[in-house]
Amino acid sequence: MRVVILIITLICDNISIIIYKNMKEEIFTRKNIKTTEAIFPMPVLMIATYNEDGSVDVMNAAWGTMLERDQVILNLTETHKTVKNIKKRKAFTVSIADSRHVVEADYFGVVSANNTPNKFENSGLTATKSENIDAPIINEFPICLECEFIEYGDCGVIGKVINTTVDESVMNGDNIDISKVSAIAFDPYTHGYYKVTERVGNAFKDGLKLKK
Ligand SMILES: Cc1cc2nc3c(=O)[nH]c(=O)nc-3n(C[C@H](O)[C@H](O)[C@H](O)COP(=O)(O)O)c2cc1C
Repeated sequence: MRVVILIITLICDNISIIIYKNMKEEIFTRKNIKTTEAIFPMPVLMIATYNEDGSVDVMNAAWGTMLERDQVILNLTETHKTVKNIKKRKAFTVSIADSRHVVEADYFGVVSANNTPNKFENSGLTATKSENIDAPIINEFPICLECEFIEYGDCGVIGKVINTTVDESVMNGDNIDISKVSAIAFDPYTHGYYKVTERVGNAFKDGLKLKK
């Protein structure tokens, strides 16, 4: 519905409230907020690598997404132990964090293997070496992308996904059942983690109902 009337803008305590009315006479009120870090949901990605001594490191990354159908891009700060490991081993895995492991997932985001070498051991989670790349798969996270390092550029790490594994407990036949995965999303506004479990529509299909 096209917004037709801007009724009023109030400025109080540095918050402006904008009130709109549409053609159906519905009232919409909006506030300007201070943050530009405002895309929701952000993923909670678990980036796993091997340290020099063969021990495992995992970090939490919300600033990441698919770049191509078979490439991921992760905006990772270069000083993180993870990035040093990726550059050395030329490989990493990306797992989707789930609601059963919120504490561990957050721990991986607040402690660095740069100064806590037994970071992964402290988490109590376990890992298995990938058969395809020089990086660990974290057993407890149900979905894992195995990636070969391509480059570290202005936007961070780019990797090629060469294999994906899924724990059978979250599968329905040949398909992933996202409600069983119980993935979590990161809310950048209030720093919350949210469970993503309910399917509410079918992509590329539901919209066709409005096609004229
Ligand atoms: C919710 C959350 C999201 C994060 N996202 C990122 C990110 O996208 N990029 C990044 O460089 N650091 C991110 N961090 C910070 C790293 O996970 C953190 O600095 C970590 O200690 C790095 O570990 P490492 O030095 O063992 O690799 C995030 C932390 C949290 C809690």
